[in-house]
Amino acid sequence: MSTWANLSLQDSASPLMEQLIFFHDHALLILVMITVLVGYLMFMLFFNSYINRFLLHGQLIEMIWTILPAIILLFIALPSLRLLYLLDEINEPSVTLKSIGHQWYWSYEYSDFNDIEFDSYMIPTNELSNDGFRLLDVDNRIVLPMNSQIRILVTAADVIHSWTIPALGVKVDGTPGRLNQTNFFMNRPGLFYGQCSEICGANHSFMPIVIESVPVNYFIKWISNNM
Ligand code: CUA
Repeated sequence: MSTWANLSLQDSASPLMEQLIFFHDHALLILVMITVLVGYLMFMLFFNSYINRFLLHGQLIEMIWTILPAIILLFIALPSLRLLYLLDEINEPSVTLKSIGHQWYWSYEYSDFNDIEFDSYMIPTNELSNDGFRLLDVDNRIVLPMNSQIRILVTAADVIHSWTIPALGVKVDGTPGRLNQTNFFMNRPGLFYGQCSEICGANHSFMPIVIESVPVNYFIKWISNNM
């Protein structure tokens, strides 16, 4: 999760988020190079000494400064497309979780295992324990196995919500009457926090998501205790 003074992306907990961070850094580097170059050129204009007073056209330089930016954009567009298709790929998931957005809580269904289903509400500040995270902890966490491919099906019961976990690189809208799909792979154990990120009404800020990433045998125990 995000902690104090962390203004950048959260540490990744999945290969896809790692790729997203690589792409972010790559795009930012190109952005910085362009900004420095254009900034330098604009600054140097203050010291212009009209050596090209009678210059009216320059076909060559026009060609260069049209084609060069197009090529630079390709260096962003192609990795972006690669990542887009990578995010959409489903690699034989071993568990499927269905999350349904409501005003204003999430409910979950483990349809693989004899229909385990429960609601997940935010813990109000006045009921929070000392080690709880305000506006972020929930009463019933999602438990999912680490080192496994997981499929998420997202939908909503009333208005549009968005199931978003920054550390996993997951952000899928839940829309009434539709079923959206995504997948992720958690490469470490821990708690991964998320929030709804579609303005869904008065208590939009108060429907967080908590995933408990556990080893597979722990997950099997959890499942058999809840069946
Ligand atoms: Cu649900 Cu915002």
